[in-house]
Parts: sequence; structure tokens; C-alpha cells
Amino acid sequence: MVEKEFIDYLKKNYSRNYLFFDEFMDECLYSDYGFFSKGEVRSSKKGDFLTSPEVSDYFGLFISNWIKEIDNNENLNILEIGAGTGSLVSQISKNLNRNIFTTELSSNAQKALKEQNINYDNNLDNHYKNNVKIIYMNEVLDNIPCSIGIQNEDKWLEKTIEITKSNELIYGQVEMRKENADWIQRYNFLNNQNNELEIQLNTELFLNDLLNKIHPEYLLIFDYGFEYKDRNKKPYSSLVRTYKEHHLSVDPIDMPTKTDITYDVNFSFIKKYFSEKNFQCEMMYQYEFLDKFGFQDHYENLQNKYTQSNGIEQLKIKSELVGLEAIHDPRGLGGFNCIVAEKV
Ligand SMILES: C[S@@+](CC[C@H](N)C(=O)[O-])C[C@H]1O[C@@H](n2cnc3c(N)ncnc32)[C@H](O)[C@@H]1O
Repeated sequence: MVEKEFIDYLKKNYSRNYLFFDEFMDECLYSDYGFFSKGEVRSSKKGDFLTSPEVSDYFGLFISNWIKEIDNNENLNILEIGAGTGSLVSQISKNLNRNIFTTELSSNAQKALKEQNINYDNNLDNHYKNNVKIIYMNEVLDNIPCSIGIQNEDKWLEKTIEITKSNELIYGQVEMRKENADWIQRYNFLNNQNNELEIQLNTELFLNDLLNKIHPEYLLIFDYGFEYKDRNKKPYSSLVRTYKEHHLSVDPIDMPTKTDITYDVNFSFIKKYFSEKNFQCEMMYQYEFLDKFGFQDHYENLQNKYTQSNGIEQLKIKSELVGLEAIHDPRGLGGFNCIVAEKV
């Protein structure tokens, strides 16, 4: 059952009887009725999905090692975008013994950050003043609202969500907005073989904002995604999906505001974006990044400690080893993509 209050809110705020998919996703996730505004922090055990820093306390250790390598004099300030529960920022600031700035859109996550005295500030201009030069983010881009393109012979249409007279939500199609058609041309995503195309123009605008306002020298981005050349190997016509209570959930219009709406990030777009902005860009899998920044040594040390301990201590180490294996597993979190971008 669609919540009447939410539908009334949409009807009041949109003069047309439909929303573009990105508008719908934005309202479902971030409005006052949104999934990220109510209940538990979603990226937590009590919430709806687990991210790498929630699965292993050591995810931040490898990012800390990357930061040490690029900034051994400790004079570049650091910003985490979309800090969620605050686990990752806590891990990294503890490892480096440094303050790290954060941003966070979700009001329930903001509350959790405040309770731990972690400051967040969504005004990016302030982070320029803070002299932030290093930015990292984990699983943020997949939550930035995308539009959906549908190719009909030579014509591009956009997926919409219509509100019917009886207040039901149904999908519709309208002619594509010019800015979205331009985005597809700009990145040359034209070979879609009947698949829907997730248009990440909002991500481009979000990254523009980061670069233009903060002028970072380094960015580190983790997320689930794919390279466009492999798109047609995926057996799904849409890469949009929902999660709820740690399971894949319903179609986005079936339980609006009650599920996490997300999609696979197109890393060919991200790579091209940074290259064109004069960043040297390295793309790898998450497990490769972890290996590069000390995973094997750390894992072996823990294994040795495990064999030399017993009782509760041994159980604790076992659970740490399991967490490490999970963030490194190429068929799980370790198979996520990672971009390391450095301004040249
Ligand atoms: C999947 S959660 C990941 C949270 C955390 N990074 C982690 O790894 O556990 C995505 C988070 O990004 C936040 N987010 C999405 N877009 C954002 C933006 N433009 N600025 C700041 N936070 C954003 C959401 O509110 C949500 O808390």
C-alpha cells in the first residue's frame, strides 16, 4: 500500500502528474518522508544493508595506509562524503590520529554522527576553507538519484512515475530531457541492446560541485558497478534495484520510501569524467586496493595471533578474520570497483 501522505506530498510539489525517475528516487530517499530520513541508520546491522566499514573494523586501516602514502607530511586535510553511521571516519581518524571532515545527507545518519560528536557539514564551500585536499567515499554514488533512458529505435525516451487518479503509482514514458540526451552523447553510451540506461547526470553535477568548490587533489571512490563494455553481459534490463532489511526487495514503485533504491554505478563514466578533468585515474577492484595497501600482511598477522590465542580472545580474532575475508572476497564486497584519482 502506497502511503497516502507521501502521494499527497508529491501531488502538492509537482505541477505535472508524473515525476522523472531521478525526482522520484530523490523524494523516496531524501525527502522528509524518505527512506534515509526515518528509522535506524540504514547502513547498519539494525538497518537494511551492510557496507565494508560495517562488516570489518579494518576497512579504514587500508584507506589510512593510502592516505599515509599520499600525504606523509600530514598537511592535506581529509573529507569523507556520506559518512553513514560514522564507522569508517572513526576507523580512519583513530588510525591516523587526525581529524576528518564529513558530509551526510540522511537525517537519521546525521543524528547518529552527532551522538558520537562527529561533525558533518554539507556546505562544500566550508571544506575549501578547511583546506580539504583528500576526499573519499564508500557506497555513495549508487544512492545519487539517476534518470532512466529507454531507447526506441533512434529516439530516446525517459522513464517516469505517474500518479493515477486513484493515487496508484505506475510507470510511464515521455520524451527525454535534453540534458540527459546530452549526457548520453557526451559519454557515448549508445549501444544498449534493449536495456534501460541509468543516466548519471546528477552524479556528474555532484562531482562538479566537489571539484569546483573544494579543489581536491586526491579522490578515492568505492562502489558496486560495472564497465560499460561489459554492460550487455549482465542478464538484467535494468540495474536499478531495492534493498530492505538486508534483502533484495520489491520494484521501486511498490513500496515508495520503504526501501533503499540503488543501482550499479557506471565506472566507465566515472573514469572518463576524471580523465577529462585532468585527473590521473586508476581503476581496480576493492580487493586489489586492499592488497596494495597492506591486506595480506595484516591478515597473516591476525592468523598468527589466532593460532596463539584461545577462549574469548580467539573468538574475537576469528570474527575479525571473517570480516576481513568478507571485504576482500572478489565475489562479494571485494569485487566492488574502486577509483583512485589524482590531480595532475
Ligand atoms: C549506502 S550509504 C553508505 C554509508 C557509508 N558511506 C558506509 O560506507 O557505510 C550511502 C550514504 O550516502 C549518503 N549520501 C548520498 N548522497 C549524498 C550526498 N550528495 N552528500 C552526502 N551524503 C550523501 C546517504 O545519505 C547515505 O547515508
